[in-house]
Amino acid sequence: MDLIIRNANLPDGRSGIDIGIKDGKIAVLESSLSAKATEEIDASGYLVSPPFVDAHFHMDATLSLGQPRLNQSGTLLEGIALWGELKPHLTVEAIKERALKYCDLAVARGLLAIRSHVDICDPRLLAVDALLEVKKEVAPYLDLQLVAFPQDGYLRDPAAAKLLESALDRGVDVIGGIPHFERTMEDGKKSVEILCRLAAERGLRVDMHCDESDDPLSRHIETLTAETVRHGLQGRVTGSHLTSMHSMDNYYVSKLLPLMAEAEMNVVANPLINITLQGRHETYPKRRGMTRVPELLNAGVKVAFGHDCVMDPWYSLGSADMLEVASMGLHVAQMTGVEQMKSCFRAVTEIPAAILGLEDYGLEKGCNADLVILQAADPVEALRLKANRLFVIRKGKIISRSAPLQAELNLPGRPEIQDFLVHNE
Ligand code: FE2
Repeated sequence: MDLIIRNANLPDGRSGIDIGIKDGKIAVLESSLSAKATEEIDASGYLVSPPFVDAHFHMDATLSLGQPRLNQSGTLLEGIALWGELKPHLTVEAIKERALKYCDLAVARGLLAIRSHVDICDPRLLAVDALLEVKKEVAPYLDLQLVAFPQDGYLRDPAAAKLLESALDRGVDVIGGIPHFERTMEDGKKSVEILCRLAAERGLRVDMHCDESDDPLSRHIETLTAETVRHGLQGRVTGSHLTSMHSMDNYYVSKLLPLMAEAEMNVVANPLINITLQGRHETYPKRRGMTRVPELLNAGVKVAFGHDCVMDPWYSLGSADMLEVASMGLHVAQMTGVEQMKSCFRAVTEIPAAILGLEDYGLEKGCNADLVILQAADPVEALRLKANRLFVIRKGKIISRSAPLQAELNLPGRPEIQDFLVHNE
């Protein structure tokens, strides 16, 4: 073996497991492994998980906070306007520098796969070229999947259709859209129809910003669901945000959910962004805006939590910490039941991995040895503590390590070290 991780807790509840790694793959997973390795890690009491996956991000805008100015209102629409002001001043070098910096942060947080939207509404397609280069550069340590995203509207921007095709020709992986931002409901519907047809013709996945508003009558998810079935794209289409579903009529949603399950629609909620950008036109009581996560899960729909933004025109905060994202999702959706909390951990690991179509992801023999060792005993403790990432491993190699987080206390008659772990026997 090249590396053995001893005595690990796994997200499914198994404990005392040794993980043997050879040639970048998980070779064996069992208790009391007798083999020896060049390098061994004692993970006693710690959770070993497959890496975090972010199914929804904007890497072209990340870490651009304050350029050219800050978002004064904090709203989605001022964010879009601000991004429009920044776009003419972008350079390939500047986008690459910010994106690579973000990938460093991501690796340190055990986030090793990201689906990023890239704005194609720019005649120079600078962000596309920059992120395609970044994708190649980071490939040894991070899987970056790109979505051709027509930020200014696929039909609303007269140049978008050509630019989107040209982005796909250059190697962008997934087809995006923004139907609720088109000029009319009818145009929104038309954009979904055209983009799904294009996906079927090109054999690509679809991931649209869909119904990202508080409008209960914004129902592009219905069209996206129907077009998915019409083109045989089941399991390959994602509705991102779907915040309108929060405000929709309950009877209508009871019809919609089984249709989404039948179409094997994937959903990405972006809790940090949804809770801050939605409900902005209200006084009190205020809607939360995040889509109906527990109801979607109960209907059998895959739901992931995405980060969406970090220090950009839409969101000044964030730190590539998918445990923070999942914790916010858990709170906003009131998913405090034991099984629900565990599903929030899956919503930033195995579910987005399935949505992205990552191969050989997971904790099975033969999977890639991509692993995170967390300073927490189990997924719920990891969420509670936003646990420290002790080791991040990619194809069997340690690519990041952090010292265990602990406080040295100076209290009479009390232990000197507090490691923040509380074991519930
Ligand atoms: Fe987004």
